[in-house]
Amino acid sequence: MQDLMEKVVSLAKRRGFVFPGSEIYGGLAGVYDYGPFGVALKNNIKQLWWRMFVERRDDMYGVDAAILMNSKVWEASGHVAGFSDPLVECEKCRRRFRADHLTDPSACPECGSALSEPRQFNMMFKTHVGASEDEAASVYLRPETAGGIFANFKNVVDALHPKLPFGIAQIGKAFRNEIAPRDFIFRLRELEQMEVEYFVREGDWERAFEEWRVVMHEFATAVGLPERMVHELAVPTEDLAHYSTRTIDFEFDYPFGRKELWGLAYRTNFDLSTHEKGSGVDLKYMDEEMKTKIVPHVIEPSLGVDRTVLAALVAAYREDDLGGEKRVYLALSPKIAPVKAAVSPLLKNKPELVEHARQVYRTLKKDIPQIMWDDNGNIGKRYRRQDEIGTPFCITIDFDTLGETPKLKDTVTLRDRDSGEQERVPIAELFGRIRSVL
Ligand code: GAP
Repeated sequence: MQDLMEKVVSLAKRRGFVFPGSEIYGGLAGVYDYGPFGVALKNNIKQLWWRMFVERRDDMYGVDAAILMNSKVWEASGHVAGFSDPLVECEKCRRRFRADHLTDPSACPECGSALSEPRQFNMMFKTHVGASEDEAASVYLRPETAGGIFANFKNVVDALHPKLPFGIAQIGKAFRNEIAPRDFIFRLRELEQMEVEYFVREGDWERAFEEWRVVMHEFATAVGLPERMVHELAVPTEDLAHYSTRTIDFEFDYPFGRKELWGLAYRTNFDLSTHEKGSGVDLKYMDEEMKTKIVPHVIEPSLGVDRTVLAALVAAYREDDLGGEKRVYLALSPKIAPVKAAVSPLLKNKPELVEHARQVYRTLKKDIPQIMWDDNGNIGKRYRRQDEIGTPFCITIDFDTLGETPKLKDTVTLRDRDSGEQERVPIAELFGRIRSVL
């Protein structure tokens, strides 16, 4: 299985999905850059999430809060005091590890020497605003996007007067100084989250929890994660985050083991209460139905973008023999595939073919932007390359399209990625065929 991970990492680099961050300077641990197909894949995942978690509902409101926030936000939320992992250090080689990740917590996994006693290591990145470097000017890079949602609760309520239950959603970067970043884009120091804080009356939390649980499974299916690879884990009480009284981890069968993909948490009214205390601002909600002011409780579906990208790549990776030739392809869901169809002239040195293919390309691209022009190498190589980036269709314009065989005039070859099968399709039907799988 680890072999599969190596293949996915290699394909991601080779085909322009994900590159090691700052690679020309030797890299930076826990930081990766997305390349052209990676950013398209990631954007498609984020857009799909936004449609399913925000736009298709009428009880959701989006925000895009700043990454830098007043440090009092993180004092009130409990992150300054409690957002930490247990750190141990080898007394000989001085390497550092997360104590809870070690099979033998008494010996260094690198050199076997004794390890220090664990100490709590706060994972927030600290920096300074303005020209002063004193403590008063220090701020944190947000460790979760949730903080920006809670801090804007009153703004959204005052501006839009939403009725309970309602939610606020945000997609954005978060930063965690992980002790041991690992497993490619699984455990990062700079990551991206898609989060909802869904505000409810206390008595409604269980119902809302169940509703979002279903939506999260629907999203897993929509991004092409097979049900058999997604599992729920009820987080034991002793492992719950400081703000939660119930959490389910959605786990995925990554090549390096079954690991957390997303989380669904009941955060009670911990956050709004602590922000009310910390800020001194009344964050209560006037519940017209109950004729009383309340501090709403919160259900939080929290999804990591990068872990979703990795799960989608792992689930889609395939090797087979096609026409006696070994090939690698990504069976990505067409909804998230970075390229929906590639358009090629059969031969690139025949101007009449190129001109016709360009016309098909331009027409399709007007309505389906993720259409790619591909005239690199011969047609076999183009198919292999498009297979490797998960393009569902390849469209080839040949001499029959121009009328060499009269009954095939204005038809093209449409090749299916997964089966490799090719069929003749009228140009006028191409748009419908591609749209039908999106
Ligand atoms: N607001 C709740 C929250 O942040 P979390 O379980 O710490 O909860 C939520 O993180 C999700 O963010 C995780 O399920 C995972 O998808 C993603 N995530 C967390 N830490 C990560 C890291 N170091 N690298 C990549 N993704 C991470």
